Amino acid sequence: MSRIETDFVRDGGQLISAGIFNDPDVYRQEIERLFPSCWLFVAHESEIPSHGDFVTRQMGDDPVIVSRDTSGHVHVLLNVCRHHGRKVCEEDAGRVARFRCGYHGWTYDSAGKLVAVPFEQAYGDHLDRASNALCEATVDTHRGFIFARWNPGESLAEYLGPMAWVLDLVFGRTDAVEVVGPPIRWLADSNWKLGAANFAGDGYHIFTTHGFSTQMGLHKLNLAEGPRPVSRALSLQNGHGAALVSLPTPDAASRFLGLPEQLWPQIKRNLDALQQELLDSMVLAAGTVFPNLSFLETAGHTPEEWGGPDRPMSFLSLRQWQPRGPDRMEALSWLFMDRDAPDEWKKTSRTCYERVFGVSGTFEQDDVENWAQITRGLRGPWAKRQWLQMKLGLDATPSPDWKGPGDCYMSGFTEESVRGFYRQWLKLVAHDDD
Ligand SMILES: [Fe+2]
Repeated sequence: MSRIETDFVRDGGQLISAGIFNDPDVYRQEIERLFPSCWLFVAHESEIPSHGDFVTRQMGDDPVIVSRDTSGHVHVLLNVCRHHGRKVCEEDAGRVARFRCGYHGWTYDSAGKLVAVPFEQAYGDHLDRASNALCEATVDTHRGFIFARWNPGESLAEYLGPMAWVLDLVFGRTDAVEVVGPPIRWLADSNWKLGAANFAGDGYHIFTTHGFSTQMGLHKLNLAEGPRPVSRALSLQNGHGAALVSLPTPDAASRFLGLPEQLWPQIKRNLDALQQELLDSMVLAAGTVFPNLSFLETAGHTPEEWGGPDRPMSFLSLRQWQPRGPDRMEALSWLFMDRDAPDEWKKTSRTCYERVFGVSGTFEQDDVENWAQITRGLRGPWAKRQWLQMKLGLDATPSPDWKGPGDCYMSGFTEESVRGFYRQWLKLVAHDDD
């Protein structure tokens, strides 16, 4: 019998049971109910640009192959042989025409069709190749993001809703924004939800968790002096959330995230008027596509002694929090670049990213340490009875002047998007389709 009860999330997300962050039964319901009912990011198209390219990923607990077949069509295939269940592909990425199971040799083409069976005559009439293709998930794309899902449900466009506009603002600003190499991957002793909810809209933690960066002079942004940043917290439907932070009066060098001027015509061509206005003065964008895909764009001054050019630089990272058990996750962090940026700019942007995010990044380590501490601390029976509070910004109302999608709160001090994340979480794990 399910242990999920509707009071795991109370008062519209204001109170969250501490018992959902380190519990095998809750985890099992997430894997069996929540993940199969969501559109899950599996890869960016720029990771598999050529026919026959593939990467292997996870959808919840299920291993999948994201394969561009020999005619260019993208498939998301369950990485489980139809014969005895072994993975048919063990590599992270590559280019092949066929996937051959290492156990008995059943072989599938890049579209998942069963094309060869050793000693097939021994089956007589008892093997039908056509009905033994690899199991395939439903696939759709947005802005080069490949999403897949198992259970039937709403379209990807309906699922993303207003989040699509935010993804376009960040990943659709120039003619091509693409991955740089494979993702950095690491295991962390953290429940996956903590990363996802943080990126959905936790501006509050920055000052404590990452306060060292301004104290050490890593960033020149001084909140006590100069123009105050303008924060917009976007609460979007279906559990998605994002935060956009701008400086009201950017200098020429910091316009459009410090992106080189030769990209500005592309930005003006690709974005609508509001997106351009926001990007022009933006210093940070972060968000989560429910359930476990997040992104981060930051721009800041980087002193020369820290490897920077002493002018605003930005980097763009996509990250995914893959569940690996109730108290463990695998984090994947991709670095993205505007294809047409000069090589020198790309080089410096990469340095900024590696110093701040990715497994070696200072901010990343601070974040993950918080989440690991929470996961460890909420293991005990007494700790699990506690209720965690998400009440920041309850009295705030959405800005009536906001012309973009979703509800916009003009403050970084709100947990409305986090509440929205847990409301959606509850809806999907508590849903009983048995
Ligand atoms: Fe953080």
